[in-house]
Amino acid sequence: MSDHSNEFSPESLMMSFGHDPSLVRNSIKNPIFQTSTFEFSTAEEGKAYFEKVYGGGDTEDKNKSLIYTRLNHPNLVTAEKRLSLLDESEESAFFESGMAAITTSLLEICKSGDLVLMSFPIYGGTDSFIKNFLPKFDIQFLAFDPEMSENEITKLIEAHPRKDRLACIYVETPANPTNSLIDIEMAVRIGAKYSNQGQKVIVAVDNTYMGPLWQKPITLGADLIMYSATKYIGGHSDIIAGACSGNATLISRIKKLRSGLGCMASPWTSWLISRSLETITLRMEKQANNARKLADFLRDHPKVAKVYYVGHIDAHHPQYALYKRQMTSGGAMLAFDVVGGEAEAFRFLNAVKLAKLAVSLGSTETLTSHPYTMSSSNMSVADRATVGITPSMVRISTGIENPDDLLKDFAQALDKV
Ligand SMILES: Cc1ncc(COP(=O)(O)O)c(C=O)c1O
Repeated sequence: MSDHSNEFSPESLMMSFGHDPSLVRNSIKNPIFQTSTFEFSTAEEGKAYFEKVYGGGDTEDKNKSLIYTRLNHPNLVTAEKRLSLLDESEESAFFESGMAAITTSLLEICKSGDLVLMSFPIYGGTDSFIKNFLPKFDIQFLAFDPEMSENEITKLIEAHPRKDRLACIYVETPANPTNSLIDIEMAVRIGAKYSNQGQKVIVAVDNTYMGPLWQKPITLGADLIMYSATKYIGGHSDIIAGACSGNATLISRIKKLRSGLGCMASPWTSWLISRSLETITLRMEKQANNARKLADFLRDHPKVAKVYYVGHIDAHHPQYALYKRQMTSGGAMLAFDVVGGEAEAFRFLNAVKLAKLAVSLGSTETLTSHPYTMSSSNMSVADRATVGITPSMVRISTGIENPDDLLKDFAQALDKV
């Protein structure tokens, strides 16, 4: 079966890529392989599969050597092939949560005595894992904020006693919820500077906020893309999943640890992901169009003090060139400060009718939340002030509803403020 990947765009291939109907009685969709183990036709075949999976088989060998669902299964293969196509990576790996993808990857990349450089702010779970868990294995961290220049970050590393043991640069861009951008190519340059023969610095980018459509970190030189696939990839607020993409050598190392930790995505989760990827372009484009309409409406509203939206970065903004170079959309995430404080923000949140009040993002329904007291509440008051997370801030993940209804809903909720 030809996969047509040189002929057609990922948008068109998402419906069929990574699935061979001839293997499953010509079923046009991949069935759910609800099984824990796979029968070998002969003992010789079983032996050969083990040799390929635990020995030196390439990715295709491993994909075909079905042994046991914790190691690999057909629904996982389909989902991973589709994500690789979107991410323009050699390989991808799916996990049962974004945190499983992030923690497994960091544990594989870092060893005792290493240093991790992270952007700040990053997702709270990742922040806590790097700051509180990795030090138990003598892995230290350094944090930089989006305003720092390449020179300032380099000085920060130079001043650290472990500057020669930098193992990973972990970047989340745009930052949540302020939408500040971090230059991925700058991180790659810093990584190259501190790579040596003994250790290549791995540049990992959490691409959850942009999804696999609007930002392609591998094409910018990053080594690893991380996702909470719970968000745009799953896209319907009905699964928890995670993923990473990168070159075949790195991803196969991560997959080996994934098998050891037992945190691969299940057949059901993987099947839902493959199905969701069929509509990812449709969903994300509609979400981004709706987000722009909402952001423009909010910018002009007298009860809104400030809007944080990547799509509003214009030619006068210092990050304009970076925005144009690094991403192809303003995305579907925005935030705004209401005029007032927490009480006014809560009045808005309690008044919306169509949009739902919940954390998470990237789904078909519009979600509103209050980062200061919810997703960023684990940060100290000083840190929240430094990165600009205010009590008056409301975060919006835009869905695929009729945009006029969203505007109507937001207008009536702002009237209550
Ligand atoms: C940017 C980002 N990365 C990682 C995660 C963790 O993903 P999960 O909740 O799927 O474990 C989240 C969750 O909200 C997130 O927003």
